[in-house]
Amino acid sequence: MSPFHRALAAAVTALLLVTAAQAANPGNVTQGKQLYYAHGCYGCHGYNGETGARDLVATNSPLIATEAMFTAFLRMRADVAPDVPSTHMPNFGAEALSQAQVHDLYAFIQTFRLNAPAVKDVPTLRAIRESANRPYKP
Ligand code: HEC
Repeated sequence: MSPFHRALAAAVTALLLVTAAQAANPGNVTQGKQLYYAHGCYGCHGYNGETGARDLVATNSPLIATEAMFTAFLRMRADVAPDVPSTHMPNFGAEALSQAQVHDLYAFIQTFRLNAPAVKDVPTLRAIRESANRPYKP
């Protein structure tokens, strides 16, 4: 096991313990919403996680499937591997967002629901799809 993988395993284990301890304590959605705005998450993920750089709703992504994974993702580059080149997602280490704040943030993100209408409910999209399905007549 490389030092990086050892550090990663230790971090994930620690997070799992913290998450287990917090499982009984539901996060504060109102606080989470404030943190989502105060830390600029909305700027890249939209007000309801549906727009922007990466959707946070209805993606089936393992990164938001559990609080432990969500926390590990926010912390990863800051706490575990600060030298790994970052992508466009900023690092949120423990000094930026405490464990309790991440807990509230996760509770807020859990409230996101896909709000986009189905194609069949948008007349213009429905017309485009119907016309694309008609046989081509030159
Ligand atoms: C400057 C833009 C930016 C900001 C601000 C930002 N993100 Fe992101 N986020 C991204 C990008 C881009 C990705 C895609 C992965 C990557 O490039 O690292 C991402 C990915 C994610 C993912 C993983 C999504 C998935 O399942 O693939 C989560 C969860 C997330 N962000 C949560 C947050 C939270 C919570 C905040 C605020 C504390 C935040 N982001 C702030 C740009 C941003």
